Amino acid sequence: MCGIIGINSSKPVSATIINSLKKLEYRGYDSAGIATLSSGLINEIKSEGRVDNLEKNSLVQSMEGTIGIGHVRWATHGSPNSINAHPHSSQNVSVVHNGIIENSTLLKKFLVSKGHKFKSQTDTEVIVHLITEHLKTENIVNSIKKTLKALHGSFALGILFKDEPDLIVGARRGSPLAVGYGPSENYLGSDSYALKSMTNKITYLNDGEFCIIKKDHVEFFNEDGTKINKKVLELSSEEEKYDKGDYKHFMAKEIEEQPITLKNGIKEYVDSANNNINIYNIPWKKNEINSITLIGCGTAYHSCLMAKYWFEELTSLDVNVDIASEFRYRKNRFKRDSLYVFVSQSGETADTYAALDLCNKNGMKTCAVVNVIESSIARDSEFVLPIHCGTEIGVASTKAFLGQILILYILALKFGSLRSDLDKEKLSAKLSDLKNLPKLVEQTLLTDNKIQNVSSTFNEAKGSMFLGRGFSYPIALEGALKLKELSYVHAEGYPAGEMKHGPLALIEEGMPVVVLAPRDNYYKKTISNMQEVIARGAKVLLITNKSTNEIVSENIWETIEVESTNQDLLPFLLTIPLQKLAYYAALKKGFDIDKPRNLAKSVTVE
Ligand code: G6P
Repeated sequence: MCGIIGINSSKPVSATIINSLKKLEYRGYDSAGIATLSSGLINEIKSEGRVDNLEKNSLVQSMEGTIGIGHVRWATHGSPNSINAHPHSSQNVSVVHNGIIENSTLLKKFLVSKGHKFKSQTDTEVIVHLITEHLKTENIVNSIKKTLKALHGSFALGILFKDEPDLIVGARRGSPLAVGYGPSENYLGSDSYALKSMTNKITYLNDGEFCIIKKDHVEFFNEDGTKINKKVLELSSEEEKYDKGDYKHFMAKEIEEQPITLKNGIKEYVDSANNNINIYNIPWKKNEINSITLIGCGTAYHSCLMAKYWFEELTSLDVNVDIASEFRYRKNRFKRDSLYVFVSQSGETADTYAALDLCNKNGMKTCAVVNVIESSIARDSEFVLPIHCGTEIGVASTKAFLGQILILYILALKFGSLRSDLDKEKLSAKLSDLKNLPKLVEQTLLTDNKIQNVSSTFNEAKGSMFLGRGFSYPIALEGALKLKELSYVHAEGYPAGEMKHGPLALIEEGMPVVVLAPRDNYYKKTISNMQEVIARGAKVLLITNKSTNEIVSENIWETIEVESTNQDLLPFLLTIPLQKLAYYAALKKGFDIDKPRNLAKSVTVE
């Protein structure tokens, strides 16, 4: 999982490649590298860590060459050091790769037997040597065709050749790849986002295709090596400028932006004039859908789980939820009357895309809930509901989570009303409450000091638990995930009622436990579960909503009260203190909040 870039120009390319790599860092930040052709040779410079490290290298600053490729890495094969960083090069060929070559061990054996010498522990290096080997007897097109045929697994590739100084080859299977067109220069990139500062004219490669990028034109080929024509798409030319402003971290800014995310979503999807839902173009008739399956990864999976509770409450649809990496290899029962909803901030997550592809191949109805509307998942879904939260940079998703659950909630209301599960009055009341939600989130965001104070306890403990029931259970999972990914301490989200079947054994004196117990239908049950953990020595941070009714429990360590609203909407408010808890815990530890270790914003390998 990585980001790749290639530029073929008549001007020096290294500075532009470095700038594009900075934009691609959301795909990986373990190492970065660049290769250009100059004085008839491939020059390769790589460094461990961020693109900033690479940029600081004085050799990069003086790097010559009007044609080059670059890479940011999220390590799969081989540790994240500068030797394993891409590009990988022989004397004749240099390659950047996003994906995993599953048969690399076998290919390496074969290539070693032919006398090829390997420098790294990566799977990618076999591609370099395979092409080099084929080039001994074949032309470029045939060498690429034969190499791609031999590879099992997934790849997006950018390839530079010492003896073909006027071209870059791009190829894809499984991992996304885009070509961009500029004035007397052309580009290759993992996505249009990386290319947007240079062009808004884009062609997306499909699986199996490859291309030859020259300065003045681009040729496309299918996997048999036959030339094909491809469409040039014109994307909006506005490049979204997004910076931290006065905030210390993007995550802090993105947490604070959540009222705007909600306002944008409500403005787009709620028809205030008619008290209705502004989703009129669903491409299927209401009687064609009787069940819904929601699929995602990470935080997006938690959004799906959240949506299950709403869809079950508000509609008569059967509802299933799946983790994309599990769904894609199971023997699924594809049913004609099912709608498959893919939830993804980036729209590029490899497992979610593969699950979508599987559904498409089985003729299923597909819908995407995405943030990036030019993404692969958006492009290949029949119906797209954008979440409109703007760029999200922090690897730990915050505003995209709230954006996703908002759209999923509105979709549940839409299906409820379409199927007459929800009458007009109820819908109208729920929409009125929804319109108030951004203001309530704004007020909830004001709770800060208390969360800062309790966050050290979570850092100092060897682990913590996040408990919730019903609507609060997915939020407990999300809260635990946030804490894990940012502060690197173990945190486990669990259904409060299930503790007695095992995890209660983990509770010991002083262990911090977050209990989400808003005043909803589950309140009393959750409070009982809370008492069970308090009785065993847990330090409970209770998160509930404001109410005139007192909390009937003793020995609660700390209580945080969010604003009050109807029970459907409480999960939005409960999320806020959990995001802040994770943020402050990581801040106190001095960790890199926007780029936690070992992670990436968009996971483009399975
Ligand atoms: C990565 C990110 C998570 C995200 C998940 C799914 O793991 O670090 O924040 O939730 O991928 O990403 P997606 O773009 O599909 O929502």
